Amino acid sequence: MDHKTQQLIDNLKGKQKIRVLFVCLGNICRSPAAEGVLKAIVDEAGAAGRWDIDSAGTGGWHVGELPDSRMRIHARQRGIELIHHCRKVTLADFDRFDLIIPMDDNNTLNLRRMAPTLEAARKIIPMATFVDPGMGYDHVPDPYYEGSEGFELVLDLLDNGCRRLYDTLTPQ
Ligand code: 4NP
Repeated sequence: MDHKTQQLIDNLKGKQKIRVLFVCLGNICRSPAAEGVLKAIVDEAGAAGRWDIDSAGTGGWHVGELPDSRMRIHARQRGIELIHHCRKVTLADFDRFDLIIPMDDNNTLNLRRMAPTLEAARKIIPMATFVDPGMGYDHVPDPYYEGSEGFELVLDLLDNGCRRLYDTLTPQ
């Protein structure tokens, strides 16, 4: 984690409410799964009141839809129901959220292009930043054209990254 990112995280630690937006391309696989995983973690910790968690996509092909049925099945096997309805990222999201977390470089680049100010751009921190480097991934791979193992990998990476995100923002 670089210095600027660490600074942003340190500032958030003291906040009463933490607002997190997960972003992927379609908002039907990775980012709604990340939303569901982090919500489950904060629910279990009894910390839901401190967190505002949402997801959105840089592309708009699936707006209004529930997550991809394969993603929902794999999440359900881990006790997580995905009920988010797909939406696109908006400019207002850069105001509303403290952290904007893209899944891969393509999402990151698109968000950086959209960011209205430098301060807004600084809120963009890739998901892989929070994932244990030992897992060997510098992004969360798009599972859309993959089989079951692609969806399981996404959930493994998100489970690891979201736990570490939660821990790093939770005062001990
Ligand atoms: P996601 O996966 O970005 O993880 O939601 C995708 C879903 C749909 C498409 C691409 C990626 N698509 O091209 O429709």
